[in-house]
Amino acid sequence: MNPLQRAEEKAKPIPKKIQSAFKLINASLYSVEERIRAQAREFDPAVEGYVAYACESSGKRLRPALALLAGGATGSIGNAHLDLAVVLEMIHAATLVHDDIMDGADMRRNQPTANAKWGNAISVLLGDAMFAHALTLSTNFSSAEITRRIATATAEVCSGEIIQTQRRFDLKLSVPDYLRIIEMKTAMLFAAATELGAMLNETSPEIISVMKSYGLKLGVAYQIYDDCLDIAGDESRAGKTLGTDLRKGKLTLPVLHLLQHSSDADRARWNNIILTGEGIDDLVEATKQRGSLAAAIQSARNMLAEAASAIDIIPANRFRVALEEICGAVDELLEQFAAQ
Ligand code: IPE
Ligand code: IPE
Ligand code: MG
Ligand code: MG
Repeated sequence: MNPLQRAEEKAKPIPKKIQSAFKLINASLYSVEERIRAQAREFDPAVEGYVAYACESSGKRLRPALALLAGGATGSIGNAHLDLAVVLEMIHAATLVHDDIMDGADMRRNQPTANAKWGNAISVLLGDAMFAHALTLSTNFSSAEITRRIATATAEVCSGEIIQTQRRFDLKLSVPDYLRIIEMKTAMLFAAATELGAMLNETSPEIISVMKSYGLKLGVAYQIYDDCLDIAGDESRAGKTLGTDLRKGKLTLPVLHLLQHSSDADRARWNNIILTGEGIDDLVEATKQRGSLAAAIQSARNMLAEAASAIDIIPANRFRVALEEICGAVDELLEQFAAQ
């Protein structure tokens, strides 16, 4: 890659492959952006700027895209899908504002985090205000069931973050414990996007259920990808602070795999590094050298394959294909770490 290409690559918030899976819904995603901007203006003028900063930044808009594609795959994309997309993105952005406080992160979406700019006190309240606003918006859906599920998913995300925080530096954390945490904190919102995208079309319970299952599996795979990124990614390309998981005591799949596949003596050494925070580079290197990063990548890939085949029963259409392409795109994102 020449420097110009590299600069262009960095400026793009959305990896090419994901962008191509989004092409069917570009016009709707544009409306979602306009609606997000309009929602930021609903806040008090003294607060509007903070909300705009957190919501209008260059996120990949994965959850909105999933809600729209799920709508297209199961019927048609209507106004309610655009509303769902806005609500989910605002909830997601709120979780990121809070997550960055907890992780002590400085960069997000290629710009300083809210906590880096305005401190923790403003940022906690900013996240709260965004959650509350999103839930208010969600009362506009014609069915209370949609609102209820959005609120439940939001509570699950926060509970997942709480459990993760409780279990920091907990060397007894098992892989099933880890999977449950990431299902709650990340996959539940992906699943809300795809399940509710289908539910808005009043499609059959069976189709709604497979769309949910697709979202859950994709969400788990995506968080495993993000956890590999934290260990093996490049900060300037990712546009956010990396390396915080180990420093904050979050044990993710590559590290759990290493702990489980080490001799007692090695494990004692890794445990010491995790608890003291000294020698993290050696631990990271070991996840690469001893196949633990590769094993985590493989788990994510298996999950992506399951996600794609979960929606097999949906009659083939362009939107279903795009949903499958998203699995392929995340698979390709994982590929970049496989060589390390
Ligand atoms: C980041 O999500 C947090 C995770 C759940 C891994 P995204 O990678 O979708 O972040 P944005 O929205 O593109 O910034
Ligand atoms: C995802 O976890 C955060 C939420 C689901 C709120 P991470 O802490 O790994 O997300 P990043 O890496 O900061 O984006
Ligand atoms: Mg974080
Ligand atoms: Mg992360």
